[in-house]
Amino acid sequence: MDQANQNEVVSMPRIGDKAPSFKAVTTQGEINFPADYSGKWVILFSHPADFTPVCTSEFMTFATMEKQFEEANCKLVGLSVDGLYSHIAWLRTIKEKIEYKGMKDVEVKFPLIEDITMNVAKTYGMLQPGESTTKAVRAVFFVDPKGIIRTIIYYPLSLGRNFDELYRVIIALQTADEFGIATPADWRPGDDVIVPPAGSCGTAKDRMDGKEKNVKCYDWFFCTKPISKDEVLKKVLNKK
Ligand code: BEZ
Repeated sequence: MDQANQNEVVSMPRIGDKAPSFKAVTTQGEINFPADYSGKWVILFSHPADFTPVCTSEFMTFATMEKQFEEANCKLVGLSVDGLYSHIAWLRTIKEKIEYKGMKDVEVKFPLIEDITMNVAKTYGMLQPGESTTKAVRAVFFVDPKGIIRTIIYYPLSLGRNFDELYRVIIALQTADEFGIATPADWRPGDDVIVPPAGSCGTAKDRMDGKEKNVKCYDWFFCTKPISKDEVLKKVLNKK
């Protein structure tokens, strides 16, 4: 890294921060972020460049899963430091020409931000000079209905994202909020969840003695309870 980059102070939004607001031009018109998404979850993600293979595979996957995210009250917003006409041409090429892993005729309906000034990419710490000074890395910001950043994931240029994991994160965050629980390693809907520490409604000893209904303790600090997949889906996806 050169001296100028080494000395540059970069501030990035963190988990728990309010998502920095910005207005931007996108393939779906202008957006005012995050205000336009109030009351919804939104995934703001960056990709390095249009007309590149890893990004193409990612966009086809995300577009194919858009309805699934929509059912979880989650909107998608992409960004790269390319211009609008490049975005439009690339998305048209994807729809008209690319068939990949059974996906074809894929229309990207979610907005893709043009960020030629790199203002948004810089604000969100999407430019990481050690990886590239001209392209955004693969950043993923999960923003909740109140505009608070709840999870951040970064991938380097060469590594395509795992979209099952991005969907798992959205469902797990919403499940944690709805049920007041935490989710253990590799949790998926239907798996046991972690209950908060015993407080006024039950002592740790009661829990350890198995007196709290359905609660299983591995030790005093580590207790779980079941929540069925149906319960999760009903609450999070509003499925009857
Ligand atoms: C890609 O999406 O294929 C890619 C983009 C930038 C650097 C390396 C790969």
